[in-house]
Amino acid sequence: MTTLVRLVYVSRPRTVGRQGDSQGRSRKAPRRDSRDDFLAMCDEILVESRRRNADAALTGVLVAGPGLFAQVLEGGRAAVSDTFARICRDTRHEAIEILDMRAVDERRFSQWTMAFSDIADAPETLVARYRHGPSLDLRAMTPTALVAFLEAVAQAQAQDNALLGAPCPTAGFLDDVVFVEAAE
Ligand SMILES: Cc1cc2nc3c(=O)[nH]c(=O)nc-3n(C[C@H](O)[C@H](O)[C@H](O)COP(=O)(O)O)c2cc1C
Repeated sequence: MTTLVRLVYVSRPRTVGRQGDSQGRSRKAPRRDSRDDFLAMCDEILVESRRRNADAALTGVLVAGPGLFAQVLEGGRAAVSDTFARICRDTRHEAIEILDMRAVDERRFSQWTMAFSDIADAPETLVARYRHGPSLDLRAMTPTALVAFLEAVAQAQAQDNALLGAPCPTAGFLDDVVFVEAAE
């Protein structure tokens, strides 16, 4: 048994001039100039994330905004920590800032090995509800508000995907994983 935790962080996608990693392997995105290229990079990230997260019993959401990634990772403490350590070494983003990491009683993203939404596609009414001022500033939100917003975005995206016949990969493995309840 392990403690269930939820990690929330933000980072800034790197858009140009990515270099090879420490073993000299060329990472996937030397130039990311257009929105299409950026979304292609997100696709690459999601394919490997969903495979690895399914193996590690991790769930969550990745939201991309202008110059921003926001991600929630939830699962066992060791699995979240290991995965986040890898994510921190990834040269596809920078300026990584943890907003919250806490033990939790239950998952908020249990349906998704990694949901994804581009904030540009989020319903305007939803964005308006969480915006204070002219633009939405995810870094300035409280962790509680940010997780609620990201959950709402993931749900809206899942509805869109269902309409388009493209369901997000689900996390049916969770029934087999036992977590201790987090202390309040
Ligand atoms: C914004 C962002 C989010 C990511 N999310 C995950 C994730 O949820 N799970 C995961 O295994 N890898 C995730 N990755 C990919 C990891 O950084 C890493 O590339 C991948 O796990 C393979 O690691 P390795 O090349 O060290 O084996 C993410 C990368 C980025 C840039």
